[in-house]
Amino acid sequence: ARKIGILTGGGDCPGLNAVIRGVVKSSIIRRGWEVVGIRDGFDGLLYNNRIVPLGLNEVRGILPRGGTILGTSNRGNPFSYPVEVNGKIVLTDVSDEVVANIKNQGIDALVAVGGDGSLKIALELMNKGIPVVGVPKTIDNDLMETDVTFGYNTALETATDALDKLHSTAESHHRVMIMEVMGRYAGWIALESGISGGADVILIPEIPYDISTVCRAVDERRRRGSAFSIIVVAEGAFPRGGSRVVQKRADETNTIERLGGVGQYVARQLGDCLDMDVRVMVLGHLQRGGSPSTFDRCLGSRFGVAAVELIEQEQYGRMVCLRGRDIKSVSIERAVRKLKLVNPGGQMVTAAEELGIVVGRR
Ligand code: F6P
Repeated sequence: ARKIGILTGGGDCPGLNAVIRGVVKSSIIRRGWEVVGIRDGFDGLLYNNRIVPLGLNEVRGILPRGGTILGTSNRGNPFSYPVEVNGKIVLTDVSDEVVANIKNQGIDALVAVGGDGSLKIALELMNKGIPVVGVPKTIDNDLMETDVTFGYNTALETATDALDKLHSTAESHHRVMIMEVMGRYAGWIALESGISGGADVILIPEIPYDISTVCRAVDERRRRGSAFSIIVVAEGAFPRGGSRVVQKRADETNTIERLGGVGQYVARQLGDCLDMDVRVMVLGHLQRGGSPSTFDRCLGSRFGVAAVELIEQEQYGRMVCLRGRDIKSVSIERAVRKLKLVNPGGQMVTAAEELGIVVGRR
């Protein structure tokens, strides 16, 4: 009999519960295996009481629910874990404890559901002899080797819906509305929701923007009779020649964040070159919340099932992925080599430009 563990790491994301349910159902019903859930991401592997049995009762009714029933962690990298030593926090490698704990619990294989960071940790555990399989998760859609991550579609729906709502108020007040969306490194959410929500300007980290181009675009619209504009800006966007990316992590802050985010920064810059009312809306963690879309429920469920199949075939060190309409797998190592960013000369950007959207340049 097999016993498998599952954990969800990093930022939460719509569809996590669909994955958990998929793993539990296909393990128990189809194979008669046992499943345990690890609470609060990799943190849970340090404490026996955070490893709990996951049966059919535990996953009943969770498919449409946002978040993760297992919880996730904000700090839990066992290879660099904050431990208090003489009143000071020291980053310590506690991975031996984690490995021992997994073995003591009799866990034969671990399903790690996470983004780039969590999958890298999973790979390191694999290198220490723990059989792992990965499931790609992130609303940012910035993971390589899969056409799409689950959670991205729901985040897009949320952002597009917000843009529809902003349109009516922007138009009524003849205002420039700036909507800041997530995406620290990748502009996928900004670009795709911007196209779908009819934005006039889209600013993404992959194309450093030119504020005079943005000003000109808004001004030209006004002269053509549209006395309002909608600007979507990814949180990691930055001006040409300016400092790189706004970061939320304590060790990665820079000026833009101190100014209250890139949305506020762009508003200030526009104030210098444009005589229009400007407002900023930060969509923030709304993008990570709520019930998963139909697409993400189905993709999450299929990923969960596929992760169990990988374990059955003992294909460890692999991550499930979507290719076209098929679920396949790829080595985790390949998937975490670099992030999947928007190609500035690619079809999505040029389509936006053909639609008359200014993507930060020209
Ligand atoms: O990676 C997912 C993500 O939502 C990013 O888009 C965003 O920058 C970050 O997480 C926010 O993290 P936190 O939950 O720590 O604010």
